[in-house]
Amino acid sequence: MGMGGGGHFHRLMSEEEEYSRRISDTVLIKRLMKYTLNFKGKIVVLLATLIAATGLNLLPPVLFTIAVDRYISAFDLQGLSLLSIAFIGLIFSIFLAQYFQNYLIEWLGHRMEYEIRMNMFRHLQRLSIGYYSDKEVGSIVSRVTNDVEKITELISSGVTTALADIITLAGIIVIMLLMNLWLSIITFTVIPMVVAFMYFWGRRVRKVYRETRKTIASVSARIEESVSGIKEIQAFSKERETQKEFQKANVSNMQANIEAGRVMSAFWPAVGIFGAIGNSLVLWFGGSAVMSGTLTIGILFGFMAYINRFFMPIQDLSMFWNSVQSAMAAAERVFLLLDSKIEVKEKTDAVTLPPIKGAISYENVTFSYEQGQPVLKEINLMIEPKKTVALVGPTGAGKTTMINLLYRFYDPDSGRITIDGYDLRDVKLESLRSQMAIVLQDPFLFTGSVKMNIKYGRLDATDDEIIAVAKAVGAHDFIASFPKGYETEVGERGSRLSLGQRQLITLARALIADPKILIMDEATSSIDAYTELIIKQALEKILKNRTSIVIAHRLSTVMNADLIVVIDEGRIVEKGTHKELLESGGLYRRLYETQFKDTMKVEDLYAEADH
Ligand SMILES: Nc1ncnc2c1ncn2[C@@H]1O[C@H](COP(=O)(O)OP(=O)(O)O)[C@@H](O)[C@H]1O
Ligand SMILES: [Mg+2]
Repeated sequence: MGMGGGGHFHRLMSEEEEYSRRISDTVLIKRLMKYTLNFKGKIVVLLATLIAATGLNLLPPVLFTIAVDRYISAFDLQGLSLLSIAFIGLIFSIFLAQYFQNYLIEWLGHRMEYEIRMNMFRHLQRLSIGYYSDKEVGSIVSRVTNDVEKITELISSGVTTALADIITLAGIIVIMLLMNLWLSIITFTVIPMVVAFMYFWGRRVRKVYRETRKTIASVSARIEESVSGIKEIQAFSKERETQKEFQKANVSNMQANIEAGRVMSAFWPAVGIFGAIGNSLVLWFGGSAVMSGTLTIGILFGFMAYINRFFMPIQDLSMFWNSVQSAMAAAERVFLLLDSKIEVKEKTDAVTLPPIKGAISYENVTFSYEQGQPVLKEINLMIEPKKTVALVGPTGAGKTTMINLLYRFYDPDSGRITIDGYDLRDVKLESLRSQMAIVLQDPFLFTGSVKMNIKYGRLDATDDEIIAVAKAVGAHDFIASFPKGYETEVGERGSRLSLGQRQLITLARALIADPKILIMDEATSSIDAYTELIIKQALEKILKNRTSIVIAHRLSTVMNADLIVVIDEGRIVEKGTHKELLESGGLYRRLYETQFKDTMKVEDLYAEADH
């Protein structure tokens, strides 16, 4: 994220565009419809209530017409009373139908939202690590939240409202025609004007709303970037510049919103004008027809009522197309995520890896993240059970990549990796990964207590076991010194603990799983000398009885390994013990000598502390 954001964004866009070209709207709609299949019964009921509510809603003006023409003009008070009661009954029925209609719309929408989100989350949990390496967190989050909401809103309330609008329009037209053909035709002359107005105005509205969406996206992006980069911003005293940039984005958003507001402000008054034109046409032609005795007052009255109900559905429908388009774009993004391939997939006949001894073998492994740029080249390495192997080499040599392959976050392009003779591609991922544990350079803690964070390594661990492990890695003392001890909440990503403390907790988490293979990838690189000392003391106990792979920058940490493997530019260039490698005088020796100069004093301190 941050500086590289632009590039990622670009890549994401083009991927989206490509997907959009491949997938048609009909396919999208079919797939979306699949989500409604489980609720067929509810949908039928919804349609019934929708038709009932819309149909009944068309009736009041008819009742008024009847009231005027049949009862009021005939001074029939009894008939008028009956009609009034019928009117109350009608209103009550409309209430019931609308209640069920609205409730079902909400129910259906949220139910679908739930299903789609669940599917996405499940997929996100299974997607290979490679998927995440070039994605922005924000864009993934917004797909699962905003995009899903947009889609389900369209399918539930959008589609039903559009249906109701069409029924209403058709109903009004039919009723008008039945009441009086001649007056209907005069009234309908307004329709082309309204439609033309809606069309041109709608284009304008789409444009301003697109602008508001674009600007708010830029505002969110700035907030996201500045929150995640706040340390750097403050450290480089860039608060002012950041604020200025934010202000720029914010001003654009405000202007876009005000412009949208301005355009929208003109709408209802303009619709009012059309209403007035329609009304005056009906009033003049209808009124003179009443005077000449060819039309009843009741029908005139009914016409006036219907003409005012004409505009709302037209306006709704003109907006409907907008929400269809934005929901389709959202659906594309959602399905793009749901369709992204799980590169590392379990075979259907994958076997459960039995409890392992921990023999690891890389056989002729070649791997590249991006085609044509191999990061590992023909790696051959045997690691015997319960041995400690150190991987050393310059940054970017491919050490972490070797671990990524061992965890089967990726599969090799060629060659294979086996554990106890099992090819990783043939075993169930869970049975593989649950027998390994890893401690990374940047310790990740989940929101929750210290205890839960350790327990995460093995959920059925008892409190005593947790304390024992914490003691073993040297974390118990500082945990116990907290007022709430093991129940201390660590805050988001452990923000309230020091880096070293977090590292010790993740170490305890790794250890409580009692893994057969333990991996430490630069676990000690960024922590303070004091914590490193604690870890170093614990290390012997930790590494005992399991196969361990230790990647460390400071060679002092790896000197005692059974085997040191030197990697450079994706190849194993040297192998041997500390002593052998020093004697052979290759890359290891050069690395050692450069480090030795800087760290000699610290090393001496460690050496003393060890005794
Ligand atoms: N997700 C990735 N996508 C593309 N290239 C990557 C990715 N991760 C690492 N690389 C590249 O692979 C090479 C080896 O990286 P890595 O295994 O992390 O090195 P090391 O751990 O030895 O420092 C580097 O050139 C790095 O830029
Ligand atoms: Mg690395």
